[in-house]
Amino acid sequence: MRPLAIVVTCGLLGVVCYGAESSGPNLHELMKNVISVQSQIIWDIGNRAQDDEGNIDARKLTAADWAKIAAAAGRVKRAAQSLASAPHVMAAAPGQKIQSEGEPSAFGASDVQRALDAQPKVFGAFTQQLVGSMDEVLASVTSHDGRKLGEVSNRLDEVCESCHKLFWYPNQKEGK
Ligand code: HEC
Repeated sequence: MRPLAIVVTCGLLGVVCYGAESSGPNLHELMKNVISVQSQIIWDIGNRAQDDEGNIDARKLTAADWAKIAAAAGRVKRAAQSLASAPHVMAAAPGQKIQSEGEPSAFGASDVQRALDAQPKVFGAFTQQLVGSMDEVLASVTSHDGRKLGEVSNRLDEVCESCHKLFWYPNQKEGK
């Protein structure tokens, strides 16, 4: 009960509580080192296997390609699950700067933290969406289904975007 009481008190008083802020998985690290890099592997392999119409042709994918896709999807899934199941997510480590921090109207780590703490359920739903997308990628690997892989790869970008728009650059009209 103690840690919960502390978190609640911090919320009520609106003060910075380092104990609460610096607990849980590090979102920044997971985005930068796992989710972004591993998703790129899925996109790159798929892009190389596209036919003239932009569909993924499974005949252009080797067993090694499918294995790489599965490994990458597994890593993204585990990272997303760790975010989804954490009682508290840390935007970044204390003192750590996130991408575009300091640019005019861009969010810094503390702004992201505030957004996360304000809408943990919404954030959790987005992480679940990412888990679901990875399950679809893994299913496409099991059936060696290029069309399905292409379809989920195309949608994946939007899953990233929609969470970023809300929690990372809500002040921006256009973003990455
Ligand atoms: C559940 C919400 C959510 C989802 C889904 C999500 N992100 Fe993020 N991502 C964030 C937030 C919030 C930040 C900004 C804060 C940070 O960097 O810690 C971020 C930051 C990033 C960064 C910048 C890291 C840096 O160097 O500062 C990259 C790159 C990134 N995400 C890639 C992706 C990709 C690719 C996907 C989809 C495959 C994705 N993200 C899905 C929430 C999400």
